Amino acid sequence: MTVAGTLDATRVPTTRRYLMCPPRFFAVDYVINPWMDPSQPVDADLAMAQWTELRDTYRRLGHTVEEITPRPGLPDMVFAANSGTVIDGRVLGSRFRAPQRSAEAEHFRRWFVEHGYRDLTMPTKINEAEGDFAWTGGLLLAGTGFRTDPAAHGEAQEVLGVPVVSLRLTDPRYYHLDTALFVLAEATDTAPAQIAYYPDAFSPGTRRVLARLFPDAVLGDEADASCFGLNAVSDGRNVVLPLEAVSLADRLAARGYEPVLLDISELRKAGGGPKCCTLEIRK
Ligand code: ARG
Repeated sequence: MTVAGTLDATRVPTTRRYLMCPPRFFAVDYVINPWMDPSQPVDADLAMAQWTELRDTYRRLGHTVEEITPRPGLPDMVFAANSGTVIDGRVLGSRFRAPQRSAEAEHFRRWFVEHGYRDLTMPTKINEAEGDFAWTGGLLLAGTGFRTDPAAHGEAQEVLGVPVVSLRLTDPRYYHLDTALFVLAEATDTAPAQIAYYPDAFSPGTRRVLARLFPDAVLGDEADASCFGLNAVSDGRNVVLPLEAVSLADRLAARGYEPVLLDISELRKAGGGPKCCTLEIRK
């Protein structure tokens, strides 16, 4: 008997291109989310080692990783996901809510210009990019509630030319969409997209929207979310996630995915995980 969602040898990875920023100036100097506590020491060398392991893991899986030069005074620049949304070679830059991070947007804008991206728009509304935008292959899921302005969702739809679905976050610990939801497999001609998410991070209406759009989703619980297990990166088969997310990893394995567990403890002190460090460049 075959049961839908059990071990499935046909999960096919697709090669990705990522942009990452080494945590050379990483620190927790200010508080812009509930995870950040400047009185807790941060081990900068360990953060660099964990980040390097993440980068090398992507390369080992066959993906391309580009690196942007980190800048002093921007300790959160390691969280590259917040600096751009790229679909079909079109780039929508970012505009940060916190003044402490606002200068990051220009560094990333310049990186895209220098790397030949001609179709580049900087947002007029607060827009924390892939922190709050997740591409399913057909829809751009868009979070709001803490960071990205709801008006940025309409702006993203116009600029990128893709349908946007607004989702409302309600728990301050899950202040970005990518702390509570990730795409496991993009939609193809023959299969719908598959996602994983933590329902309690969302408003009641949004939960109903997600249940309607993704009846086959993997649902996370508080234990999965609080170790940043939903801040994972999938290539359609291999899923990179924090090593504490063992139970989620088991459930993903039962659906045919290949979990890859990594230690991101230092980055989590700033409220980040694997996905936060990873901006996907889609062509
Ligand atoms: N300290 C950073 C902030 O609060 C962490 C960003 C994490 N990035 C993410 N994509 N969730 O902005």
